[in-house]
Amino acid sequence: MKTAVAATLLALTVTAQDASVFQRADPPAGTMFIDSLDLSRVSIRRPRAARGQPTPPPPLVFALGGVPYAHAVPLTSDADLTIDLKGVVTRFASMVGIDDSVKAPAGSVIFGVWVDGKKAADSGVMRGGDAPKLLTADLTGAKKLVLAVIDANDGTGGDAADWGGAMLTLATGAQARPEVIVPAAETAPAIASSRTSAPLINYPRITGATPGRPFQFQIPASGDAPITYSARNLPPGLALDAKTGVIRGALQADGKWDVQVRAGNAKGMSNAVLTIVGNKDALALTPPLGWNSWNVWAGLVDDAKVRAAADAMVTSGLAAAGFQYVNIDDGWEGKRDETGEIVTNEKFPDMKGLVDYIHGKGLKAGIYSGPGTTTCQGLAASWQHEEQDARTWAKWGFDYIKYDWCGYPGNANSQSPLDVLQKPYILMRGVLDTLDRDVVFSLCQYGWGKVWEWGDRVGGNLWRVTGDITDTWSSMSAIGFQQTGHEKFAGPGHWNDTDMLVVGKVGWGAAAGPRDSRLTPNEQLTHISLWALQAAPLLIGADMATMDAWTANLLGNREMLAVNQDVLGQAAGRASSDGWTEIWLRQLADGTVAVGLFNRGPEAARMELPLSALGLNGVQPMRDIWLQKDLPRISGTFSTVVPRHGVVFLKVGASKK
Ligand code: GAL
Repeated sequence: MKTAVAATLLALTVTAQDASVFQRADPPAGTMFIDSLDLSRVSIRRPRAARGQPTPPPPLVFALGGVPYAHAVPLTSDADLTIDLKGVVTRFASMVGIDDSVKAPAGSVIFGVWVDGKKAADSGVMRGGDAPKLLTADLTGAKKLVLAVIDANDGTGGDAADWGGAMLTLATGAQARPEVIVPAAETAPAIASSRTSAPLINYPRITGATPGRPFQFQIPASGDAPITYSARNLPPGLALDAKTGVIRGALQADGKWDVQVRAGNAKGMSNAVLTIVGNKDALALTPPLGWNSWNVWAGLVDDAKVRAAADAMVTSGLAAAGFQYVNIDDGWEGKRDETGEIVTNEKFPDMKGLVDYIHGKGLKAGIYSGPGTTTCQGLAASWQHEEQDARTWAKWGFDYIKYDWCGYPGNANSQSPLDVLQKPYILMRGVLDTLDRDVVFSLCQYGWGKVWEWGDRVGGNLWRVTGDITDTWSSMSAIGFQQTGHEKFAGPGHWNDTDMLVVGKVGWGAAAGPRDSRLTPNEQLTHISLWALQAAPLLIGADMATMDAWTANLLGNREMLAVNQDVLGQAAGRASSDGWTEIWLRQLADGTVAVGLFNRGPEAARMELPLSALGLNGVQPMRDIWLQKDLPRISGTFSTVVPRHGVVFLKVGASKK
């Protein structure tokens, strides 16, 4: 794969002596340092006060190869910076490298320079401790300069990249001044509607439970109401409500049943096979689909907001598309009573009633705690109350627990020994196994100790592989594209959790209320395509009640969900990359391949997909997943232009089922 953009690659290593011009406090005559422009809307690393530290932090010092730079642009990786050159700039030059504060050989990034839409310079992969490189670009007659940095897949995101002494040479007699601009967000690309008139049975098509414990599953089916449901070959102990499509009861034995389910309305009929597995390890056979309160409400979550989310899950059509869980994050906890039992705070007056309400809609309910003395919000957590708390959650009827490390005694961190990191999760797993209901176990400890390598072993159904996501390109992209190699640890019952979604209206409890995600529409398509390919849980982080139609179509796209929920459970891996563009492939159960052509770069790029990369040859059918449309059949190599920060999401090959 290669981009068709003619790229002049220039990455010279210069001696410290040559580089001295970039280290000056004052710009050489006829030049200006880029950090003298207004960078307030650019994603750069800014000094942050330490937790609980009210005094302003000292300014950051930037150094490359032992040399400090008085002027530097510490662009976040992944991020880009666009400059309107106003026709007055003739040259760009900068030293680039990973800041000395990063201990070599940690960190790896790629720096790139685009001039009027074409790549003009590229550093190649640079690692911590590498000698700084010089990047230059001729800007004579140019209108627009873009500087970009991306993480280079060493597994860590947000590596500290410095443009040391980044400077512009001005044309003689220049009157205007170059200006930093924020590229206008593109209009939202057309995507297929998730609403249908005729009935369509959606995904997941497999579910499971422990025999003897309560079973509940809503057959996900879109289409005009009323829909009536029927099922053949239901396992003993289960019954279907023909009006709602909810299957309830308790399995009586281990086993595997292929149930023929049918949904019909005035417009037609849809048939599908739903596999029901009875086993003690049959939870989360596909990645959980649902909602979590944190990214929108944070500490402001309350009973009414959770009920509203459950209501909107149904009215938005997303329950019909397959979303099941309504999960309360931190913020519900009160104190403990005299027996040590955890009680809710005043925002949750009737937790059992709330869970019954969620179940009544055919949905499932999730709750949050942690192994520490307190949660991340400083509220009561389960330290030395593990069994008591789990019984309380079960009594309320919860189906899912997110168990978040914060507040665990002993100052553990990512470097702590594995037995320390695993202990509280093994403890809670043991407790969950003794309950009278199935509870999906979600580990949250930000990826410490390479949790993906052992999360399954300690009984997790999913485990966070990252710190907290936020609704910026830098955050989402750095998390999503750092997952290379983690795919082999995911599979039915155990998934890598790249954190909750940041599309729609989010806000983390901001006083002004939920606001639109700062991701552009193409960035949102990248986010959801990547998470779907990687078999990540899709936990919506938005206000459900005010979700717009485009976001509902984005999240409810049945072909995207078919990829995410594919029964094979084989997560996508990165098949190829030229740094800025990447191809991710996911083998699906029907013999076809889901393909993401991703462009992490700041300008549109041509990408090529050789059929041979998919292990296919001849002439093959191909479908655009976001449009839900067949594309012309392909042979040889498919070539397309992928927008800036965007994706083309395809399904290739003939279904063998
Ligand atoms: C963080 C966690 C977030 C959220 C928050 C609640 O540690 O990563 O997802 O749960 O705590 O306080």
